[in-house]
Amino acid sequence: MSKGLNSLKEWIDKRFPMTSNWEAHLSKYYAPKNFNFWYYFGSLALLVLVNQLLTGIFLTMNYKPDATLAFASVEYIMRDVDYGWLIRYMHSTGASMFFVVVYLHMFRGMMYGSYRKPRELLWLIGMAIFFVLMSLAFTGYILPWGQMSYWGAQVIVSMFGAIPVVGDSLTLLLLGDFNLSDATLNRFFAYHVVTLPLLMIVLVFVHILALHEVGSNNPDGIEIKSNKNPKTKIPVDGIPFHPYYSVKDIVGVIGFLIIFCTIVFFAPEFGGYFLEHNNFIPANTLQTPDHIAPVWYFTPYYSMLRAVTVNFLWIDAKLWGVILMAAAVIIFAFLPWLDRSPVKSIRYKGPIFKFALTMFVISFFVLGWLGMKAPTPLYTLLAQIFTVIYFAFFLLMPWYSKIDKTKPEPKRVTK
Ligand code: HEM
Repeated sequence: MSKGLNSLKEWIDKRFPMTSNWEAHLSKYYAPKNFNFWYYFGSLALLVLVNQLLTGIFLTMNYKPDATLAFASVEYIMRDVDYGWLIRYMHSTGASMFFVVVYLHMFRGMMYGSYRKPRELLWLIGMAIFFVLMSLAFTGYILPWGQMSYWGAQVIVSMFGAIPVVGDSLTLLLLGDFNLSDATLNRFFAYHVVTLPLLMIVLVFVHILALHEVGSNNPDGIEIKSNKNPKTKIPVDGIPFHPYYSVKDIVGVIGFLIIFCTIVFFAPEFGGYFLEHNNFIPANTLQTPDHIAPVWYFTPYYSMLRAVTVNFLWIDAKLWGVILMAAAVIIFAFLPWLDRSPVKSIRYKGPIFKFALTMFVISFFVLGWLGMKAPTPLYTLLAQIFTVIYFAFFLLMPWYSKIDKTKPEPKRVTK
């Protein structure tokens, strides 16, 4: 490094912990040497977050959070603003890709037991991120003020009304009015562009801090920190994050960008799955669309909401649906304590866990598909069966993870 740059570095280091942080989090952060494909999705989630923040700023410059102007302002962005169509499609595609990436990131955690001790808090912070992500998607979807924005929000908000005692006041607080209206659009806009992104940034920062405190898990699910070189104190199975994984992650970024750009340029509506056809019609408060379904990433939970058709105990069917839907998300947070297996990774877990995880994935996809369809008696029955399978994965875990026949973990990481 040239003398000038070196003295600048020293000057900064005396006033700000630049080099020490660079080393602690990048060039001397030792990550397990056996990261595989599944370890791309954390950095990709970061990439999508940056995409959403940047494109969001430019959309906000031309969007009007006013019930009489919102729809037209989005059309204006699409037709008249220079590259407005690109920015909007990058943002709308980014929303769906965020869920794809985060679902795969969570699935990796479930496969390799990344939620287990000492990463329980890291997992819980991840859950908080997931809640914020869902809130961001929901509040964002209302903004174009199309038919699906309006009626989708109506369905979700009416769920809060089902909560006993506080339901009505909560709905009023959420809507800012007695009906979904301009006041609702205004407050959802504020949440979508200020509150939730800020919260998300803070949580992601804390997520990475927590990760670097405990260190990364890996596909073998063994702790590399417990086997350090006595002289250097560096884990024998660790390699510096930078340059090894910063370079590896670029490969993931390129692969991701190929898929992302193909969608943005050739299929931005993605057959109505990323941008629903009905949302190209302005909101009409007097006409309910024939069929209301949320965007694909919410449909597994939506079909659980609709799966309950009978009143049970003193609670009516609708409230049960709401409880089940909320439980379906919250239950992920209990995974660190539900899993009693002596090993972390799927590589050393037994056939019961592999079967249970496969059934869980199948139920997630089937419920997702059912949530897009108009309900029929057969579909409702299927939704009920797969809801039971979905919950069985979690609720039976303390039992099957204990009796499952596991293989011994290796001392050192493998491939
Ligand atoms: C905006 C969303 C998120 C971002 C930007 C993000 C970012 C990251 C990054 C960069 C890593 C390290 C690289 C990697 O292991 O892939 C990581 C690890 C991790 N994340 Fe996330 N994450 C997000 C959401 C979540 C969610 C929703 C969960 C779970 C509920 C979660 C749980 C974890 C766990 C357990 C690890 C450690 C994995 C291991 O070491 O095996 N994250 N995250």
